[in-house]
Amino acid sequence: MVRHRKTTVPHKHGNINESGSSSGASESSIASRAFHLLSIWKTGVGVMCFIIAVYVGTLGYLETRVNTPLDEEKAVQQSGLAVPERYWGTYRPGVYFGIKSREPRSPVFGMMWYELAASAHKGIRHLCEQNDNLPTYGWLRHDGVNFGEQLVSDPPHDIHTSFITTPGGEYGGQWTARINITATGKENTPIVLIWYGALDESMGADEHSILWAEYGALRGHTPAIGNFKVHLVPHSGKLIHTSFSEAHCSGLHLLKEKFYSLLRVEKHPHFGRLAVLGPDDELNDKEKGINFVPIQMLIETPFVLDVVYSTEGLPSPPLKGDEYTNALEKYKKEFDVKFEKEFNLKKKGYSDQDIKIAKAAMSNMIGGIGYFYGASRVQSQYTKEPVPYWRAPLYTAVPSRSFFPRGFLWDEGFHGLLIGKWSPEIQLDIAAHWLDLINVEGWIPREQILGAEALARVPKEFVVQSNAAANPPMLLLQIAKLVRTKPQMFEHRYASRHTLDRMFPRLQAWYQWFQTTQKGEEPTSYRWRGREDDGLQLNPKTLTSGLDDYPRASHPSDIERHVDLRCWMYAAADAMATIAKVLERDTDKFEAVRDQLGDEDLLNELHWSSHTQTYADYGLHTDGVRFVRQNSKNQQEGSKVVRSVTIAPQPRLVTSAFGYVSLFPMLLKVLKPESEKLGKILEMLDKEELLWSPYGLRSLSKLSPLYMKRNTEHDPPYWRGQVWANINYLALSALQHYARAAGPHGPRARELHRRLRDNLVGNILSEYKRTGYLWEQYSGEDGHGSGCKPFSGWTALVTLIMADEYYL
Ligand SMILES: *[C@@H]1O[C@H](CO)[C@@H](O)[C@H](O)[C@H]1NC(C)=O
Repeated sequence: MVRHRKTTVPHKHGNINESGSSSGASESSIASRAFHLLSIWKTGVGVMCFIIAVYVGTLGYLETRVNTPLDEEKAVQQSGLAVPERYWGTYRPGVYFGIKSREPRSPVFGMMWYELAASAHKGIRHLCEQNDNLPTYGWLRHDGVNFGEQLVSDPPHDIHTSFITTPGGEYGGQWTARINITATGKENTPIVLIWYGALDESMGADEHSILWAEYGALRGHTPAIGNFKVHLVPHSGKLIHTSFSEAHCSGLHLLKEKFYSLLRVEKHPHFGRLAVLGPDDELNDKEKGINFVPIQMLIETPFVLDVVYSTEGLPSPPLKGDEYTNALEKYKKEFDVKFEKEFNLKKKGYSDQDIKIAKAAMSNMIGGIGYFYGASRVQSQYTKEPVPYWRAPLYTAVPSRSFFPRGFLWDEGFHGLLIGKWSPEIQLDIAAHWLDLINVEGWIPREQILGAEALARVPKEFVVQSNAAANPPMLLLQIAKLVRTKPQMFEHRYASRHTLDRMFPRLQAWYQWFQTTQKGEEPTSYRWRGREDDGLQLNPKTLTSGLDDYPRASHPSDIERHVDLRCWMYAAADAMATIAKVLERDTDKFEAVRDQLGDEDLLNELHWSSHTQTYADYGLHTDGVRFVRQNSKNQQEGSKVVRSVTIAPQPRLVTSAFGYVSLFPMLLKVLKPESEKLGKILEMLDKEELLWSPYGLRSLSKLSPLYMKRNTEHDPPYWRGQVWANINYLALSALQHYARAAGPHGPRARELHRRLRDNLVGNILSEYKRTGYLWEQYSGEDGHGSGCKPFSGWTALVTLIMADEYYL
């Protein structure tokens, strides 16, 4: 591990001994009173030194805990070249089309483009940006291993990108990418296409890796992949002009800016003034080597380019031309067959168009998988400033390629449900990578911002991760689900058994971390940490719960208890028992906690309101809050909107916030099928004036005082009424569970399940047809997609919902 911070912290025990010796002044031989006093004084000093030393030593020890890895064997044992079938891939989900390997120091490759007509005013396309306002883009098919095909629509052009990877030889094998550009209209507008290669020097320059251009091809060398070549082979169409540059770029996040700076204007007989690539002045600095080679092509549509990457010692020649076309067709057919086998959507009667969307949803989840490397910035109560975590790789899916192109802990819990249906190996590998990020305290940072490319896209205030912050343990539930549905994977003779074995102490540490750090004051109660009342928020956020601005007690306090977290802990104990069982380990302690948290009388005592007949959080709460505009004492600062409390808060159940949180005892199946309270929840679910909408379940009741209310002047509602796919998925999963269980509420659960599924699926599909995207959330008023797009994180669970696959 790399710890950047230079600490002068002495070793805990060494320090104690050292100072301990100075307290050993003896008084045995001399009786002199003065000396005696001196001796006492000396002893006192010694003791003080000792205490200070222990204090400093302990502080230092505590200070370093936050970025000390858990001392257990890593769950991931094989990566990089040791997993040849997944060595190369589209592991840069934040760009429209990019390829790299699962290697911390992989060279990266990618595409940019721009329209020649200055009137287009669109600039250069590179990173997936919401503001580019493309009508649609995303993977149509992607199997996570061999191939993918994507459509990027940027009128007046459609850009189809695809790739095939072919393992073989000692150096990670070969890949070919195809870029196929057609005009959306009749008119043929020239377009400029750029393919580049770059070396990531965010970890410091690497003198063993080099990159250069040669006869319009890209060449290079790294220790892992040896000598490699990237040929650009036009397959069909007209190439009007080519130029290239060898350059130095100070970071992967600045490639586009660097590219701009390399353009020079040249006269062209047909196009007048043409921007072409020229030499890089920065290379005059002898310290700076070439690490960025862009090749620019001015083309006329239709145009098809094959980008052919090869290395030495390949068993077969690299794919290109018609051979590539045929191979792609073959992979597409195989994909379609496997997709139907796994999801049965044709058999269920879905239309071809709906199946196409379901394939795109799943492919974007799989195609959104990235490989990141770097160190988070973390903070604990013992560190004066944020400190770097250890450098580590993360293989993970991402919630959104444009807005959240990085790993999120609780999102990943949901992603794995769908990924695992397609490829349990990939699911397990991703989970193992996440668990390797656990520290010695048992904490996993919630948001993973690894590497310069990821860091450049995160607002400053979200970078530092606090070790007091939890996030729902969905990943644990997902692993238990895999164990339950695919027990044969974990028989002794399989590698996945050993992976799970290595994951176990990590899972246990994580589980234990929740049990100790998120405990509430009352026995068997729990409290999300990290709520802060800044006097501005109508209701202080609970980011750690994953439900950000969902209303909780108005005045955060230690007496608070959160019903959703208590249910998560029930499900986590159950998941631990499931995993322990398959590994033939002791399950008793997990089962004991599960049974205790599953005791309905205990749950009701802490969280049931007989007044409203609902489950609720408990805390210091008042509904008497509103915004007022306050003039600042300082004239220049003007006025700001703050929260005013009109009725003093009381310790009570937060019953006015009826919504997702109130449903958790059902969502996570804490309630027994015969529970009377379950009947109440099902009854409340179905009310249109509360949570039920034609588009799915709203996050907050329409009758709640904070329904669709802003949280501050600048903070629009987020989990205050909008329909979210992940919680709807949990609801469907629970409804199906209760429908199947023999209980008095079975028929009702079955009927609700059917209607909720049809509403949710119907709206997500029709919004995709209307807008070209899956969305982060959907309006509970008109069903329109809102928040960011494309959001093929948990919204892509629509594929599982269409297939009626819930297996939590
Ligand atoms: C390029 O894309 C067009 C439009 O989708 C398609 O008809 C054509 O077959 C593609 N060409 C190649 C060589 O892949």
